[in-house]
Amino acid sequence: MYGENVSDIAMKTIIINSEENNIKDADLKDAGEIIKRGGLVAFPTETVYGLGGDAMNPEASRKIYAAKGRPSDNPLIVHIYKMEDLFRIADGVSEGALKLAERYWPGPLTMIFKKKETVPDQTTGGLDTVAVRMPDNRIALRFIEAAGGFVAAPSANLSGRPSTTTAEHVIEDMNGRIDMIIDGGSSVIGLESTIVDMTGSSPMILRPGYINGEMIRDVLGDVSYDPAVFGEETEGLRPRAPGMKYRHYAPKGELTIVKGEREAVVSYIKRGIDEALKDGKRVGVISASRDMTDGAASGMERETPGITGRTEADGYGKEVLIMNVGDLRDEYSIARHLYDVLRECDKKDIDIIYSEDFSTPKIGQAIMNRLIKAAGHRVVEV
Ligand code: TXA
Ligand code: MG
Repeated sequence: MYGENVSDIAMKTIIINSEENNIKDADLKDAGEIIKRGGLVAFPTETVYGLGGDAMNPEASRKIYAAKGRPSDNPLIVHIYKMEDLFRIADGVSEGALKLAERYWPGPLTMIFKKKETVPDQTTGGLDTVAVRMPDNRIALRFIEAAGGFVAAPSANLSGRPSTTTAEHVIEDMNGRIDMIIDGGSSVIGLESTIVDMTGSSPMILRPGYINGEMIRDVLGDVSYDPAVFGEETEGLRPRAPGMKYRHYAPKGELTIVKGEREAVVSYIKRGIDEALKDGKRVGVISASRDMTDGAASGMERETPGITGRTEADGYGKEVLIMNVGDLRDEYSIARHLYDVLRECDKKDIDIIYSEDFSTPKIGQAIMNRLIKAAGHRVVEV
């Protein structure tokens, strides 16, 4: 089970409710002080919630790994709130990197640079490079400043679980394991930042995100991809972002992605449902609405009948959970709700999960990168 070691590290976690995308000065000061004395604070960003510690304090990094249950060779992203600070931790910042920063910072873009000696090895998992990001979230920026300017933060989930996009998710995973959680509402993007390696002769995307290849090419005229972004989990294909090698984002149930013509997908999934029900299993279906008859446009109509409107008619009962992850006419709505839906599968003890393919034009690559990992690469074409 997740979180079984809570008693080892049990502590009282303070939960701060922010209002109107801001936070009270007194709370901000407390949060900053926790970081300065080596503690951990979860905070909202536009991508996912971060689990923050002082990036310059090796002891804080150690605590982050312990709280997440994460292997300590997995490097952390250093979050900054102002441009000048980049040059205190990174070396060899290129013209191109400055252009990207100018266009997309603050924003959902992480860049990898050669690291300065000021950054402890514990923060970068022993690498001689450092990942840096300036998040586009007012609470996050104020918090980083209050914390001294350099906040190391992985996503605020237990290792292996889906990332957290609401304070409730963070409480599920981190209550009793960290000092404070700042509730800043739902993450507006819902998937982690794009990671671009800027240390080579041309920019290379290590993890796809909201900032897609075209948006990078638009600024630099050039971009390549780490093959691991598309890759099967083949031996020898080692992702350049060490974190991408772990089983990730995964619900406890067995997830299969079903690709193909809509009718074929629906009938494949229905057969799967029937079989699973025969075995006494609970089934979940992740699908997106695509036209007005599908009900709520981008909401989380969890109990909505149907693989878009058919469950009741087919007489499925509570053992089948149909989840509307978003709307295909607004592809960002799918990204925003993906982790919430994967977490819902765990809450409802779903054994078998089917998902449609969401290879949408702009953020589809990022959605599918996460979904395929969550599925442990189980994809069927029908
Ligand atoms: O949106 C985000 O990036 C969120 C929010 C909190 O900012 N953070 C996040 O951190 O996703 P995390 O730790 O869950 O993922 C960071 C990824 C990992 O796959 C890690 O291996 C990679 O970044 N990474 C960090 N430093 C790196 C480096 N120096 N070289 C290559 N990859 C690096
Ligand atoms: Mg993560």
